[in-house]
Amino acid sequence: MDISIREGTPEDAEICGRICYNAFKTISEAHGFAPDFPGPETAIGVLTRMLANPKFYSVVAEVDGRIVGSNFLDERNAIAGVGPITVDPTVQNRAIGRRLMDAVHERAAEKNYVGVRLIQAGFHTRSLSLYAKLGYDVREHLACMQGKAVGISVESHVVRPASEADVDNCNRLCREVHGLDRGGELKDAIAQRSATVVEHDGRITGYATSIGFFGHAVGETNKDLKALIGAAQEFAGPGFLLPTRNGELFRWCLNNGLRITQPMTLMSKGRYNEPTGAFLPSVLY
Ligand SMILES: CC(C)(COP(=O)(O)OP(=O)(O)OC[C@H]1O[C@@H](n2cnc3c(N)ncnc32)[C@H](O)[C@@H]1OP(=O)(O)O)[C@@H](O)C(=O)NCCC(=O)NCCS
Repeated sequence: MDISIREGTPEDAEICGRICYNAFKTISEAHGFAPDFPGPETAIGVLTRMLANPKFYSVVAEVDGRIVGSNFLDERNAIAGVGPITVDPTVQNRAIGRRLMDAVHERAAEKNYVGVRLIQAGFHTRSLSLYAKLGYDVREHLACMQGKAVGISVESHVVRPASEADVDNCNRLCREVHGLDRGGELKDAIAQRSATVVEHDGRITGYATSIGFFGHAVGETNKDLKALIGAAQEFAGPGFLLPTRNGELFRWCLNNGLRITQPMTLMSKGRYNEPTGAFLPSVLY
């Protein structure tokens, strides 16, 4: 089988989006889980935005001129985010995934990224094996949480929409917790009006780009994250990603009616700073 890898273009979105939808649907349903994307149009929409965004590097795999898979590198932050990677289910387990991973690792090396990270579908033995062989370490076990809006406020923790004026304070908080900031994503989220901050004692003690699959959140304490989760109107996509090591927050979510839709794993290769505060990772970074 002659596999070739090339950079993706916006014209690839339709085919890559359908493969992405089919690959996730097939693996999820084989394990009794709901698909990540409700339909092919959602996957096509997500990949259309990524393929058109210069801050994402994209690669497409072809076999005999036919597109069979794609992968992405989120270049908005100091640590690059890998994925979503998907291969047409009819040609999986034939080294195409490995080639697509090698391609984004080569790009990360060229761009001098000190580390890369990804979120792995926790039930999927093949991706877990592939990533571990490629040098990724398991960092966090995650529960993807979904349900009705919690609608709880936390005493003396006020949640409001984030604005450009909050970026420096949010970045400072993120650096304290993660050792680096994620200002690129934060600015995108402010422009999309999905970002929120929580204030306590007259200062920002937490923020979220959104409480959902594609959003991340950082807080000084669990109270900050409870305020942000409690104020969210909905949890976009399959749900938000909660590190289960944070037993207090995990139980608070469960006791407030949220349910686990699937287990996931945060994995990283290269530099990784052990977080020193409360956080929710995003599926992209
Ligand atoms: C995950 C995915 C991208 C991998 O692509 P692929 O082309 O099928 O994978 P590859 O053949 O390149 O690599 C699989 C590797 O895992 C190994 N492997 C597979 N199952 C294994 C198992 N149960 N235990 C140990 N190793 C296993 C294979 O031997 C191979 O290793 P090798 O490269 O050293 O030979 C693809 O299967 C896919 O699209 N899956 C559905 C969507 C998905 O889960 N995406 C990733 C989200 S985290």
